Amino acid sequence: MNNSPENTGMFNLKNRVIFVAGGAGYLALPACRALLEQGARIAIGDFNKENLKAAIEVLGSEFPVNSILGLDFNIAEEESIANAIEEILEKFGRLDCLVNATYRNIGKSVKDLTSAEFNQANSINITGTFLLVRAAAEAMENGGSIILFSSMYGLISPNQSDYPGRMEKNPVEYGAGKAAINQLARFMAGEYGRQNIRVNVIAPGPFPWESVQKEHPVFMEKLSAKTMLGRIGRRDELAGTVVYLASDASSYMTGQVLSVDGGVTAW
Ligand SMILES: NC(=O)c1ccc[n+]([C@@H]2O[C@H](COP(=O)([O-])OP(=O)(O)OC[C@H]3O[C@@H](n4cnc5c(N)ncnc54)[C@H](O)[C@@H]3O)[C@@H](O)[C@H]2O)c1
Repeated sequence: MNNSPENTGMFNLKNRVIFVAGGAGYLALPACRALLEQGARIAIGDFNKENLKAAIEVLGSEFPVNSILGLDFNIAEEESIANAIEEILEKFGRLDCLVNATYRNIGKSVKDLTSAEFNQANSINITGTFLLVRAAAEAMENGGSIILFSSMYGLISPNQSDYPGRMEKNPVEYGAGKAAINQLARFMAGEYGRQNIRVNVIAPGPFPWESVQKEHPVFMEKLSAKTMLGRIGRRDELAGTVVYLASDASSYMTGQVLSVDGGVTAW
């Protein structure tokens, strides 16, 4: 059992309550661990029940169980957002930080994507994010920090020549939704700044899942070559940025998009 450290530094998150939406996922799970290491109490909300259970089990074996709450949560449903916030307030009595690591992509070509599919992705990436940010901000009575995940593909476009064979490039509904999240964050930062609620975005670069790494070696080479560091990101390499944005170390930072992409967008 790894009890929360007696940490008094500027990254200290003791007594902070953090809602990590999509928290059972590939990038969010190491971030949850890092937040717990800094003494935070966390609520992990995810609609993948199996992964949620596994995440709660693994983190519960490393940290005090009463500092972790698992929530069956769907960002696509306004009622689920309201219920999640209510459950967090009931269990922990406060909310200090939101991390949103959910996303939706359909994965079709521009030619084949239907309007219903485009709307479906938008309803999660844009509308869901908007509703979640608003609900979380309204629950933050002592100021707070809101951290949204966008992507390098909310800033630049994917290049088909990076994708070997018939592999489809990163889809339009994904990048459009991520670009919207960047602007949503700037607007909401202005909306809530006087309540000392900060809103920032992390734009991750290439952090492909293990399955993609195994199945697409040529793509991996191209992806690595797009970075200045010459390699893809490890899944734990966003956790430090999440802790930074959640903590007082970033107390004068709001309305910003922080790229964590090995330099892809800096060439
Ligand atoms: N992995 C990358 O290379 C990469 C690159 C750029 C941006 N990102 C962004 O980082 C974030 C995390 O990505 P990841 O790679 O860890 O993906 P992931 O699929 O492992 O994690 C996303 C999590 O969100 C959950 N989720 C999805 N839709 C949901 C919904 N409607 N309601 C509740 N939960 C839902 C999923 O179950 C999953 O646990 C995403 O926003 C993604 O767009 C990832």
